[in-house]
Amino acid sequence: MAVLEILKYPHPNLKKRSDAVSQIDKGVKQLIQDMRETMYQAGGIGLAACQVGVSQRVIVLDVSPMDSRYGFFALINPEIISEEGEIDHEEGCLSVPDCLEKVKRKEKVYVKGLSPDGIEVELRGEGILAMALQHEIDHINGILILDRVSRLKREIYRNKLKKEKRKEEKS
Ligand code: NI
Repeated sequence: MAVLEILKYPHPNLKKRSDAVSQIDKGVKQLIQDMRETMYQAGGIGLAACQVGVSQRVIVLDVSPMDSRYGFFALINPEIISEEGEIDHEEGCLSVPDCLEKVKRKEKVYVKGLSPDGIEVELRGEGILAMALQHEIDHINGILILDRVSRLKREIYRNKLKKEKRKEEKS
């Protein structure tokens, strides 16, 4: 198992739509193990493969720190089948450090995908699980929380990054 590097905004890979997994081979299973390690090490509750530079539709989640009803799981080729309700939810992202923003989400989502064993799974997410599922599925579609906030907030974040970069260059 390995802890992988998490790509940070504005890395171009984070903007790409990831490809569907056509075969769950050893490489995909290894990727899931590595993503799990990487997510835990970073203290996250979810991670998408594109965040570690792999353009495949694979996500891992463990929202148990916020809702103990759920444990770790991985989903391959996840898809939102239906959704319900609307909510503003404050989110952060391992690829967008020091950014906590309210984004519009659906209250409940119904998601289908494959387990790492290739078994089709269906799950109904609500609460933090629904938020995390939408966040990670956004990632594999090339969408970041910054794409879901106002242009002004995006600009403020970009300027903050620029300032930090300048500081780093000076020191
Ligand atoms: Ni994220």
